[in-house]
Amino acid sequence: MSTFSSSAISRTDRPITSALPTPYRLADLLRIVDETADDVLSGRFDHVIPAEFPAEERWARRLYADEDLDVWLISWVPERSTDLHDHAGSLGALTVISGAVTEERWTGSELRERVLVAGDQAAFPLGWVHEVTRAPESAPNAGPLDPTLSVHAYSPPLTAMSYYEVTGRGTLRRTHTELTTADDHELRIATRFEEWQ
Ligand SMILES: [Fe+2]
Repeated sequence: MSTFSSSAISRTDRPITSALPTPYRLADLLRIVDETADDVLSGRFDHVIPAEFPAEERWARRLYADEDLDVWLISWVPERSTDLHDHAGSLGALTVISGAVTEERWTGSELRERVLVAGDQAAFPLGWVHEVTRAPESAPNAGPLDPTLSVHAYSPPLTAMSYYEVTGRGTLRRTHTELTTADDHELRIATRFEEWQ
């Protein structure tokens, strides 16, 4: 059973009304990333956050994981796109903590862009295909000590991502699928976080 935050989520008090393979709704994930963003800002995860984020490559750390949920902290760097991808069978949500990111989402006929700044949230239902990059609107001088950060939650935990390209006919073509796995270090962190609940 998930132990993320029993007081905030109250999963057991709510009948499962969805056929999706997760007890969480998008609204739950939005609340979780919001709470975790507060936790990051209050220093709760300082023990897993580097004093200086990498300046050249995107940095990601799993902050929490159980059988229903995983939560990530990501540091974005200029000109390092995620490429166009989905989240396989997982629902997702994010909160931007600092700086700004640009999301280009596939609408079914085109890519639509929006900029998400600190405090903004976004939810990703099944089938959501998007590409995320650090926005030029992020502080122009932001560097390793002033990063662009966001918190992401996925349920069920993210195990695969498919990648896409837009064809000359204005359609989406899946190019490949990658499996995602947590390494031992990340799982140890998750265990420690669970113990604090
Ligand atoms: Fe994504």
